[in-house]
Amino acid sequence: MAPRPRTAEEVGTSPLRKEIYYEGYLYDVTDWIPDHPGGKIIEFYTDEGEDATIPIQQFHQRSIKQILARMKTFSKRPAINSTVAH
Ligand code: HEM
Repeated sequence: MAPRPRTAEEVGTSPLRKEIYYEGYLYDVTDWIPDHPGGKIIEFYTDEGEDATIPIQQFHQRSIKQILARMKTFSKRPAINSTVAH
């Protein structure tokens, strides 16, 4: 499922941060983008509403454990607003 767009309040707190959606969470990759071994392509997936889950799995099939370990070093937040009743 694609992530919900950020609320105006959330955008207001960090308008210049770049986040990438992976399996239910938004990871802050702002400072790491210049270090991505795969280059700038990662930036296309930081746009509002993009889901990078499948591209991340497909482009890093042989190194997925390494990728997930790297992602643990990023700050993250749930993409779904957990204060909203379901
Ligand atoms: C936070 C998310 C991501 C992390 C932590 C990450 C990390 C890495 C790492 C460690 C490598 C080098 C090892 C390898 O080739 O597997 C790599 C390569 C690569 N990544 Fe990512 N990546 C991310 C997102 C993406 C996305 C969204 C794309 C979109 C297509 C992408 C495309 C690529 C490509 C094409 C390479 C291969 C580069 C080459 O072989 O020359 N990555 N990435």
